[in-house]
Amino acid sequence: MDFNDILKKFKEEIEKIKEFDIKEAKRYFENLKVKYLGRKEGIIPNLFKKLREVPPEKRKEFGQKINLIKEEVEKALKEYYEFLKQVEKEEKLKKEYVDVTIKFKDFEAGSLHPVTKTLNRIVEIFTNMGFAIADGPEIELDFYNFEALNIPKGHPAREMQDTFYITNEILPRTHTSPIQIRTMLSQKPPIQIIAPGKVYRRDSDPTHTPMFHQVEGLLIDEKATFTDLMGILNIFLKEFFGKDTKVRFRPSYFPFTEPSAEVDIGCVICKGKGCRVCKGTGWLEVLGCGMVHENVLKNANIDPEKYQGFAFGMGVERLTMLKYGIDDIRLLFENDVRFLRQFKPFLT
Ligand code: PHE
Repeated sequence: MDFNDILKKFKEEIEKIKEFDIKEAKRYFENLKVKYLGRKEGIIPNLFKKLREVPPEKRKEFGQKINLIKEEVEKALKEYYEFLKQVEKEEKLKKEYVDVTIKFKDFEAGSLHPVTKTLNRIVEIFTNMGFAIADGPEIELDFYNFEALNIPKGHPAREMQDTFYITNEILPRTHTSPIQIRTMLSQKPPIQIIAPGKVYRRDSDPTHTPMFHQVEGLLIDEKATFTDLMGILNIFLKEFFGKDTKVRFRPSYFPFTEPSAEVDIGCVICKGKGCRVCKGTGWLEVLGCGMVHENVLKNANIDPEKYQGFAFGMGVERLTMLKYGIDDIRLLFENDVRFLRQFKPFLT
């Protein structure tokens, strides 16, 4: 066979590769490579084997010709190999194409839990008034939760707080007031903190859950008066419930404050006329407060001759319920999305 015919045939055959899809083309390419270059039966290696039969004076020329064909075939195969690689890459890109402009299934943005929103708002109002944030453990010692707060063992006030005891001395805190003691023992006055956190009581009904949140407040300075306390709480409640909110202070009792007071706001439901929520009184109790008791200051190594201060505590779930008109505290813990969905937007 003429060498030129071999080359011509090869070029026709390799040209055909374009008629196949990429998978078949790759197979076709491999077969062609074996057909022409395969060591055992390849057309070109076979030509080299024939070299021995060629008369010596023609061998050189013959050999050169085969080499030339071989080079041409190899060059073409290389080109087509690159070509196939390129096609394969393009097909892959086409297949993996993602349409980023496509409209996908609507999804709903979440929102913060109403208790979190209330907590954030309380913290925001007090930090704006210069209060720092303090913290304490949820599992407390009797000393911080009761003893140092002027509630010794056997004191009737212990009955006010249905405690889950772990041991005689260890309990999940029943209020955030132990943070008052921890803060006074670890910082020097002036002190001006709030302390948000979880508290635990054995109580469960439409207005009580065994775990709920409180925010404690404490301010200790050389001069801190009951009037300052009233001013600060008045500002807080008007910021939180609206500037037309009525606020009143009513004498009360806590073992760790003297004098003590409870603070009421005009009923947010009936605006003071009297309704089911305010039990006809026109007022709703929202927090407890008072001047820090002398014994408490002493227990916390603060000199009552030099310093005085006030404290307050409020229930976050209660404020949430009053603000949003929720009449069953358990709704706040069931996490039914139909309920939670009503507290959009996300941030405020
Ligand atoms: N710790 C009290 C309670 O849980 C609230 C309170 C805090 C009262 C600080 C006065 C001062 O009811």
